[in-house]
Amino acid sequence: MKVGFSLLALAVGLLLQGSFAHAQDRKIEQATKHRKAAFTLMATYVNRMVQTVDGHRPFDAKQMTQDAKTVELLSKLPWEGFVEGSERGDTRAKDDIWFEEDKFKRYANELQFKSAGVTAAAESGDLKRFKAAVGQMRDACNTCHKAFRKD
Ligand code: HEC
Repeated sequence: MKVGFSLLALAVGLLLQGSFAHAQDRKIEQATKHRKAAFTLMATYVNRMVQTVDGHRPFDAKQMTQDAKTVELLSKLPWEGFVEGSERGDTRAKDDIWFEEDKFKRYANELQFKSAGVTAAAESGDLKRFKAAVGQMRDACNTCHKAFRKD
């Protein structure tokens, strides 16, 4: 009887552990999808700005202001998707993110700050200023990718 009970307890324990692990995996998968989706959207708008800066699109200050505001909003979104343990799975995130959290947060803040700068520059209608601001924002993207994203 005693053996039967502990076997049952063991079986239940294993089952619980199994479903906990599943829930964890699902949470990590969702979080990874969330951040990638935010980055993908961000890149769509940033690319449009880069095309403008490179002279492949006419500088439409109104449109660029709108796009910059969208990037500003999107730049707030990926970070909650960086939950611990989510360097596993279908991702290019380096686990340094969790070892150097302060630095990662600093880089994330830097992007938010620089994208606000792009909005201000677009609003001014000054193409030269807009070019400089977009350049600074892209530096913020690249600095973080170099440190925290696998090639
Ligand atoms: C603070 C760090 C950081 C900043 C700033 C940052 N990124 Fe990223 N980015 C990452 C990390 C980490 C990944 C890898 C995410 C993953 O694979 O889970 C990533 C992935 C991406 C991806 C690939 C998404 C996918 O579907 O795999 C794109 C596109 C991207 N970033 C664009 C940008 C652009 C554009 C900017 C600037 C406007 C930017 N990122 C700024 C850290 C950053």
